[in-house]
Amino acid sequence: MASFDLVVIGTGPGGYVCAIRAAQLGMKVAVVEKWPTFGGTCLNIGCIPSKALLQASERYEEVTHMLPKMGIGVGKPKLDLATMMKFKTDGVDGNVKGVDFLFKKNKITPYVGTGRIVSAGKVEVKSSDGKTETLDAKNIVIATGSDVTKLKGVDIDEKRVVSSTGALVLDKVPEKMLVIGAGVIGLELGSVWRRLGSEVTVVEFLDRILPGMDGEVARSFQRILEKQGMTFKLGAKVTGVDASGKKLKANIEPAAGGKAETIEADVVLVAIGRVPYTEGLGLKEAGVAFDERGRIKTDGHFATNVKGIYAIGDVIAGPMLAHKAEDEGVAIAEILAGQAGHTNYDVIPGVVYTFPEVASVGKTEEELKQAGVAYNVGKFPFTANGRTKVNQTTDGFVKILADAKTDRVLGAHIIGAEAGEMIHEAAVLMEFGGSAEDLARTCHAHPTRSEAVKEAALAVGKRAIHM
Ligand code: FAD
Ligand code: NAI
Repeated sequence: MASFDLVVIGTGPGGYVCAIRAAQLGMKVAVVEKWPTFGGTCLNIGCIPSKALLQASERYEEVTHMLPKMGIGVGKPKLDLATMMKFKTDGVDGNVKGVDFLFKKNKITPYVGTGRIVSAGKVEVKSSDGKTETLDAKNIVIATGSDVTKLKGVDIDEKRVVSSTGALVLDKVPEKMLVIGAGVIGLELGSVWRRLGSEVTVVEFLDRILPGMDGEVARSFQRILEKQGMTFKLGAKVTGVDASGKKLKANIEPAAGGKAETIEADVVLVAIGRVPYTEGLGLKEAGVAFDERGRIKTDGHFATNVKGIYAIGDVIAGPMLAHKAEDEGVAIAEILAGQAGHTNYDVIPGVVYTFPEVASVGKTEEELKQAGVAYNVGKFPFTANGRTKVNQTTDGFVKILADAKTDRVLGAHIIGAEAGEMIHEAAVLMEFGGSAEDLARTCHAHPTRSEAVKEAALAVGKRAIHM
């Protein structure tokens, strides 16, 4: 029987990063993956392919809306969807091959097959031809990720009624797309198809978009998306989709009850969240405990209630984000090596990769109010930033929230072009427990969009210069 210091089940960002870090620390490591390629949801059907389509569709839209203003006349763009999909697939291939390379480089043994925990210390791998092999493992890390949340009355066929997975491979632009859920997937993939020509309506159960993000940011972002042509039906739920005719017919009811209406669509995208995935892992038999939301329960340091079995990523509590899974992968590898591995859940950035982007780190105003924390707000609009003004990308603003007593930055929220890159200066500052004053006194290159971050920090002390 092959024997390892660590067997990691799942090669998403949590699993593959954990395996690499453990190998760096001298462990003999195996990974078990049931899909034919490594990289998990993120690389195969999540972050990476969606960002390729976001990038390509943004350029497509730019040709009509932006380039003529710059004096670049290239005429009406012609969409070749098959080539755009190949651009996406090539990017995915490059990324998954990269993981393959890193496994080889770090002498990690990959097993392709479905992993099942027989007991602490034993993982059975069943390959697609039915052959099984049992691995001996000093420690096991479960990194099996998440799956699409299903909606009662709406059967996903991944052709006309799709999850994000189907929405990434449509072979033609739907005339009308109905998106269920105004969360990250709904807004990112809704944006892709709207840019390529779909009429997109988003139905959201709550009375706001992007729950969990700062409320003011979400309201402003909704207005920007509406200006771009997206339609929102908030406080509404889809109770069923009739797929018997040529057009799909979605039944929509006010969330609070009331008169129903029917909306026709060519494609319905179900994007109401994701659920932890532990099917077939044998966890109940192994005695591993779950929390009330079906996530693997851990002690806060990734240990389950069964000795030698750990869990990270989407399958445990916390935001379902690739970089959160990666950080946890590093932390558990270091803990298993006897070091003080740690994930700081107070400083995990979140980015929506639309145009403009929405990025946030730390607390929202709503969270600070609820916790009774006194805070100061510094805000700076991109309309007052030289670089965005001259580039005519002025939608959005930067908002910094700082403790009223200590001036320590507790949260940063940005809507704007490249917000997802800019947010990290706030993240680094927050990791060091920095203040708005620290940020405000840091020299920022001119002309950059990041100067708006400095100005927002200055605005905390009511001394922004360009406003
Ligand atoms: P996963 O990436 O889900 O990987 C789990 C792996 O385990 C899979 O490869 C699966 O095949 C394997 N597996 C499961 N069970 C077994 C078994 N029994 N045996 C062997 N293998 C098994 N996050 C971001 O941070 N940024 C983004 O831009 C972003 N975009 C996204 C876009 C979409 C459309 C989606 C769906 C998600 C996106 N996410 C994004 C979320 C991100 O993909 C997840 O948070 C991340 O992939 C979680 O990593 P993980 O390692 O926990 O699990
Ligand atoms: P989400 O949790 O972001 O949003 C789901 C939305 O659906 C919520 O607004 C919720 O109120 C709404 N909803 C729930 N039930 C509903 C119903 N019956 N009818 C109408 N609306 C309903 O989930 P989403 O967008 O599916 O994404 C899943 C996960 O993937 C998220 O946790 C996210 O973190 C991750 N992801 C991250 C990305 C990024 O970081 N850029 C991109 C895409 C996904």
